[in-house]
Amino acid sequence: MRTMQVGDLPQLPVIGQGTWFMGDRRAQRAAEIDALRLGISLGMTLINTAEYYGAGGAEELIADAIADCRENVFVVTKIWPSHASASDVEATIRASCRRMRMPYVDMALLHWPTRSVPLAETVQGLRAARKAGLVRHIGVSNFDGAWLERLRASEQTTGELCANEVPYSLANRGIEHEILPEAEAHHRIVLAYSPLAHGRYAGWDQKPGLRAAADAHGASPLQIALAWTVQRTGVVALPKAVSPAHVRANAQAGDIVLSEDEMSSIDRDFPRMARPYRPLLPANMALHRLALGAARMQRRMRGAT
Ligand SMILES: NC(=O)c1ccc[n+]([C@@H]2O[C@H](COP(=O)([O-])OP(=O)(O)OC[C@H]3O[C@@H](n4cnc5c(N)ncnc54)[C@H](OP(=O)(O)O)[C@@H]3O)[C@@H](O)[C@H]2O)c1
Repeated sequence: MRTMQVGDLPQLPVIGQGTWFMGDRRAQRAAEIDALRLGISLGMTLINTAEYYGAGGAEELIADAIADCRENVFVVTKIWPSHASASDVEATIRASCRRMRMPYVDMALLHWPTRSVPLAETVQGLRAARKAGLVRHIGVSNFDGAWLERLRASEQTTGELCANEVPYSLANRGIEHEILPEAEAHHRIVLAYSPLAHGRYAGWDQKPGLRAAADAHGASPLQIALAWTVQRTGVVALPKAVSPAHVRANAQAGDIVLSEDEMSSIDRDFPRMARPYRPLLPANMALHRLALGAARMQRRMRGAT
């Protein structure tokens, strides 16, 4: 597994593991824990989660998956926007630590931008949590160019908010306009989510550039697709996989280095997008509250069955 190092962050693997939809179903729990453990053993030691995933269920699952190897894992969690006030930020990170049975998380991010709480206040809350030893590194998620500009006004030093988690895959290249250049210039890493298009990759294996690179590297087209997302320094891809075959394939993709010719052929298969990335969820607090409430209700219903 290739690794990279940016700013004050430790050496990180270029491929980590996502956990959205994990911790949701009891019948899947053992398989999900096994998948995360297998991924860690293969070098995918960055685990990405959120208080929102399974309304805390994913974080509880992680506690069991890494109980005997916490020191080898870099855990990233996210704070839902309805908890973006300074006092809520600290309490939320504390609750995440409790669920994951760890004294601190390696990184905490604001999950989506919100207009309901001043960004400077959220940043203040993240800073206070860092000072209290609850989190080592802080950052944001789903920030586009305009939100990043606001963020820079709240930073004490360049790259203080050292990560931006955004969608990036062959099917969704919008972050190439603003986000990737900004991250490079301001010493942020980009955590690339849904790198396999949330499983909507039908037809990718028919693309000539992807297939040719796959043949040349003795890999599958999807491994090339994943490798493509991390060719630029500073990008960590976050595939989510429960199937052990998928976990193994994803870890192997972390070793693939594509040539310029291969990158150009893949560009022809999946052209750059005309428009820059914009966050899908509106910065509307009522919607955020509704979404978190629904996740909690689902959890209660699952508990009752
Ligand atoms: N910050 C945000 O707002 C945000 C939003 C979305 C996602 N995320 C993060 O990003 C992570 C990944 O994104 P995602 O869950 O949307 O989707 P994804 O990783 O793009 O795709 C997951 C799907 O691809 C399948 N898969 C994984 N590896 C594969 C392989 N090698 N070959 C074929 N299929 C494979 C998985 O199947 P199996 O599970 O059956 O193996 C699953 O169905 C999330 O889990 C989450 O941590 C963050």
